[in-house]
Amino acid sequence: MRKLLFAAAAAAIFVAPVAATAQEPIVIKFSHVVAPNTPKGKGADKFKELAEKYTNGKVKVEVYPNSTLYKDKEELEALQLGAVQMLAPSNSKFGPMGIKDFEVFDLPFLLPNLASLRKVTEGPIGQKMLKLLEPKGMIGLAYWDNGFKQMSANKPLHMPEDYKGQKFRIQSSKVLEAQFRLLGATPQVMAFGEVYQALQTGVVDGQENTPSNIYTQKFYEVQKYTALTNHGYIGYVVVVNKKFWEGLPADIRGQLEKAMHEATVYANKISESENAEALDEIKKSGKTQIINPTGAEMAAMQKAMEPLYQDMASRVGKQLIDDVRKTAQGVTN
Ligand code: LMR
Repeated sequence: MRKLLFAAAAAAIFVAPVAATAQEPIVIKFSHVVAPNTPKGKGADKFKELAEKYTNGKVKVEVYPNSTLYKDKEELEALQLGAVQMLAPSNSKFGPMGIKDFEVFDLPFLLPNLASLRKVTEGPIGQKMLKLLEPKGMIGLAYWDNGFKQMSANKPLHMPEDYKGQKFRIQSSKVLEAQFRLLGATPQVMAFGEVYQALQTGVVDGQENTPSNIYTQKFYEVQKYTALTNHGYIGYVVVVNKKFWEGLPADIRGQLEKAMHEATVYANKISESENAEALDEIKKSGKTQIINPTGAEMAAMQKAMEPLYQDMASRVGKQLIDDVRKTAQGVTN
């Protein structure tokens, strides 16, 4: 870790000053951990295309997918140090930096559909939450969707008891940790880029993620069962280094904001179909047995996880949980 910080700090020192000349474009390094053919991967590529177009090449966006530059925790440190300029970490990754509010989106069975989620993120709650990033040296530009999570393991997952004693990989969120503890499972925080190997070698027994991540990282090839629980949500906050962003010439920043707005509309439009297609491919592969939980099984899962709302109120904020629930209420797709 020390080595990494040193490397990141050294890289930050050599970051070119923000000045757009004909010869030297402003470079935005956009690092992320997922595959290019995912909602986030495609959103990042769309932003690159539009940003370079609208600035007439004065800005060059370099997208580094699949943890090629940094893993989950490292990329946030690198952003704060200025070694990269843009990221789109999942909501679940902000807790360790002391921003716990985004963990509200990890509460299972919180949001019935993407429309209700959007009402929260695009309304006053979402906008207020973005402001929490600024004291940490980041500016939140947008919310990007992935989708709803499914559970997988090497044993059939139907009822809460089926999770007992199994080790599940989780993202770095206290809500997710508590969720698996309630099920009698052992949660293990692990970087996304390490999950495939951990599943393959049995370091962990199972995981939860969206179909697009399960498909593109090939988790389904090393998990005998995938239960379509749709119990929770994964989405992202697109963040930039605050100093970098505020140091940009105003006209360029305006063009980049336009590019980000359009990339956001695009990413959020394709997220559902990307996940549906990924799920189809997983089913077609025949490599993991798909479990469609019954209504009674889902009700049992929901009941088992319900205490989380009480247990996590002091961490995430009771008011925030209530506000999100209220905003999401009655919104249909
Ligand atoms: C994960 O770590 O499971 C995901 O949030 C990765 C991602 O960025 O979708």
